[in-house]
Amino acid sequence: MRIILCGFGVVGQSLVKLFDSRSEDLYAKYGLKPRIVGVFDSKGSAVDSSGLDLEKLVETKKKHGSVRNYSNSKNKMSGIDMIKNLEADVLIETTASNYKDAEPGMTHITMAMKKGMHVISVNKGPLALAFPSLLELATYNQVLLKFSGTVGGGTPILDYAKDSLRGERITSFAGILNGTTNYILTNMANGLTFESALKDAKDKGYVEADEALDLDGLDAAAKLVILANWIMGMKVTMPDIKCTGIRKVTTEDIKKAAKKKCAIKLIASCNKELEVGPKEVSIDDPLCVNGTLNAIAFTSEHSGTQTIIGKGAGGMETASSILRDLLDIRQETAKN
Ligand SMILES: NC(=O)c1ccc[n+]([C@@H]2O[C@H](COP(=O)([O-])OP(=O)(O)OC[C@H]3O[C@@H](n4cnc5c(N)ncnc54)[C@H](OP(=O)(O)O)[C@@H]3O)[C@@H](O)[C@H]2O)c1
Repeated sequence: MRIILCGFGVVGQSLVKLFDSRSEDLYAKYGLKPRIVGVFDSKGSAVDSSGLDLEKLVETKKKHGSVRNYSNSKNKMSGIDMIKNLEADVLIETTASNYKDAEPGMTHITMAMKKGMHVISVNKGPLALAFPSLLELATYNQVLLKFSGTVGGGTPILDYAKDSLRGERITSFAGILNGTTNYILTNMANGLTFESALKDAKDKGYVEADEALDLDGLDAAAKLVILANWIMGMKVTMPDIKCTGIRKVTTEDIKKAAKKKCAIKLIASCNKELEVGPKEVSIDDPLCVNGTLNAIAFTSEHSGTQTIIGKGAGGMETASSILRDLLDIRQETAKN
């Protein structure tokens, strides 16, 4: 399977390491032979239509800060030229999420689908701003669009609701979908002020470069958009979410909640409306997880409420969700 990889940061590099360490068993067990024919980051690209050397790719990025030093060739392709001109079966989009115009991911994804490539995106931006039209574009071009890693990192939240609960009617769901704000709120419950909890989360590398994405609830809202479209069949985008972040949560609020045996959590919910905001959750509720964990409870017509808990982020975890998507693409295309 020929792959173009857009972005070579935490997730992109984890994916390459995963392919490298699992190459034999992926082939033996699933007949999958991923061949990365092109990679680009913000500074340049590396191309080899017979397949790039994965170890060399990671070493080059580590040594030079970009994949553009992979070879001495002077003919460097831009990312856009690569998608236009390089033959590949799947495009994997791992550039940074942005909720203003979703670029550069939006251009990568739409160009690839129009060219007939299947797409796997862990980048939430394009889906948050244009989920319904991207799905239409995929159908129109008869390609598959997969995005397991956008919600829950490696925890298969979307697959659980879509596949394990098939036949059921999910009536509502609510969850903690952003690990960073959960970490901050957990530390505030343990006595830290908002400022010192934020600083600690930053020191540990949990906070996005643009902290508003976490603190103002935008990351959780993007995930809620993806869930609402995919699981509930709604046609919504970011402006349809009523969104409040955690900046106004005080230690007083947290103490008041604790007296009622509750904790304050940033909850993304789909009930009568789509909403992200701080809510009191009983500490006995399975949803009430701490630290960077994510949790989501799905309530269905016949099977009651079930809660899934897991790590919501992490390079390798997210890379494993890309692998799941790739195996699905292989299986679905093999049927045709
Ligand atoms: N990390 C996680 O645990 C996780 C979990 C789920 C989903 N995600 C999503 O996955 C995506 C990647 O996350 P990450 O943690 O790997 O981020 P990251 O480490 O910041 O990597 C982003 C990559 O995108 C590249 N890039 C940025 N702008 C570009 C441009 N204009 N053209 C080409 N490449 C560009 C960067 O290039 P340089 O290397 O040159 O800077 C970098 O290689 C994000 O959308 C994130 O929201 C991440």
